[in-house]
Amino acid sequence: MPEPLIDMQHLVKKFGDQTVLQDVNLAVMPGEIVGLIGPSGAGKSTVIKTTLGMEVADGGTAHVLQTQMPNRQLLGRIGYMAQDDALYDTLTGRENLTFFGNMKGVAKADLTAKIAHVAAVVDLTGDLDKRVSGYSGGMMRRLSLAIALLGDPELLILDEPTVGIDPALRRKIWAELANVRADGRGVLITTHVMDEAELTDKVALLLGGKIMAFDQPAALKKQYAVDTIEEVFLKAEGVD
Ligand SMILES: Nc1ncnc2c1ncn2[C@@H]1O[C@H](COP(=O)(O)OP(=O)(O)O)[C@@H](O)[C@H]1O
Ligand SMILES: [Mg+2]
Repeated sequence: MPEPLIDMQHLVKKFGDQTVLQDVNLAVMPGEIVGLIGPSGAGKSTVIKTTLGMEVADGGTAHVLQTQMPNRQLLGRIGYMAQDDALYDTLTGRENLTFFGNMKGVAKADLTAKIAHVAAVVDLTGDLDKRVSGYSGGMMRRLSLAIALLGDPELLILDEPTVGIDPALRRKIWAELANVRADGRGVLITTHVMDEAELTDKVALLLGGKIMAFDQPAALKKQYAVDTIEEVFLKAEGVD
């Protein structure tokens, strides 16, 4: 068996007296796209931040590339797109990509071509020399995703990457994620768009601080005897 890219075991996270994550178990293997779905406030971003060591767990363990986070050495191997864009808005899109490409250690000789590729994936080619302060919200999401993709990381962790992105571009992004999978790299993606959950290899349903189900979309639909992941979700939530 190959080693998991992400391995969470009995993860617990509390904020004050609110237990947001009670017992989260989740793994992402090389060549897999795993979708983490759950309603707003379920704790999807908290799962990611705790896994990345941006929040300290109150119990359990999380390993990323066999390492407990945070770990600066691993940053170049992980493409993380936060739910809130962290961009330099006085710089242009290209300058942001160059800055983050250098941080990730992308070889200077490759950087121009790599930037051109990721910009094309998110349809920002024509806007790269504009300042980010003039970008729309959707353009900022797209630039954040391009930054995450830059450097061909072994692992992509994407927190609601397709919010505010139109369906045609969404398709293109999913096609790129399929390439990432075909390379044997892995993806953990949160979404509340149920159609997108259908495109993953495995879906984890986060409800009540626990992973209520974790399986291939087809297996979950069979188990719940429904036709869509949306219906799986509603059944798991106890809504009929
Ligand atoms: N830094 C924080 N301090 C206090 N509460 C937080 C913090 N981050 C998240 N929460 C709370 O944890 C819960 C889960 O939030 P979040 O992980 O952002 O959910 P999701 O990403 O699924 O929408 C929410 O009730 C939110 O208010
Ligand atoms: Mg979130």
